[in-house]
Amino acid sequence: MICFVTGNRHKYEEAKKLLSDIEMRHIPYPEIQADSLEEVAEYGIEFLRKKLDCNFFLEDSGLFISHLNGFPGVYSAYVFKTIGNDGILKLMKDAENREARFESVIAYYDGEIHLFKGICKGMIAENAMGKKGFGYDPIFIPEGEKRTFAEMESEEKNEYSHRGMAMKKFISYLSRY
Ligand code: IMP
Repeated sequence: MICFVTGNRHKYEEAKKLLSDIEMRHIPYPEIQADSLEEVAEYGIEFLRKKLDCNFFLEDSGLFISHLNGFPGVYSAYVFKTIGNDGILKLMKDAENREARFESVIAYYDGEIHLFKGICKGMIAENAMGKKGFGYDPIFIPEGEKRTFAEMESEEKNEYSHRGMAMKKFISYLSRY
């Protein structure tokens, strides 16, 4: 059994669909302001490593919008809490280039730190659509789709998503042992 340290039940449910042998642990840890998701995740591991008695992982993600030069990126959680999807849609009003990507970094600790990264390319929708999922899901359309993540079941989102891709790399690492 592996512990997934997160306070986000949606993230946990998505991960659990791909890796059933996990348990959610809600232990708050500092999410530092850094230039990359990897640094944020590694700092979290350092903070947590002596507090848990199981192998564990955490996940840090962000939405990078081309028209906004990569914003909100590593500030995604703060921006979601402050201006939210409506604020992003306003910033994107009249934008011709609606390209965006989600990135996810999973940091796993089993005595050493291992990082697994997933990227999902897509577009920012013109309007929020769908009620499923969480966060920026209603405004993000993955490449090859017309629907947003919020219009998909979590199994389908996992097929495309940044977290699904990072989880698959993580699972393939685990399956070597
Ligand atoms: P964090 O990894 O929890 O720090 O997430 C950063 C921000 O991105 C939060 O506001 C999340 O709600 C949002 N976010 C992370 N992953 C997803 C996703 O899969 N869909 C939509 N929003 C996400």
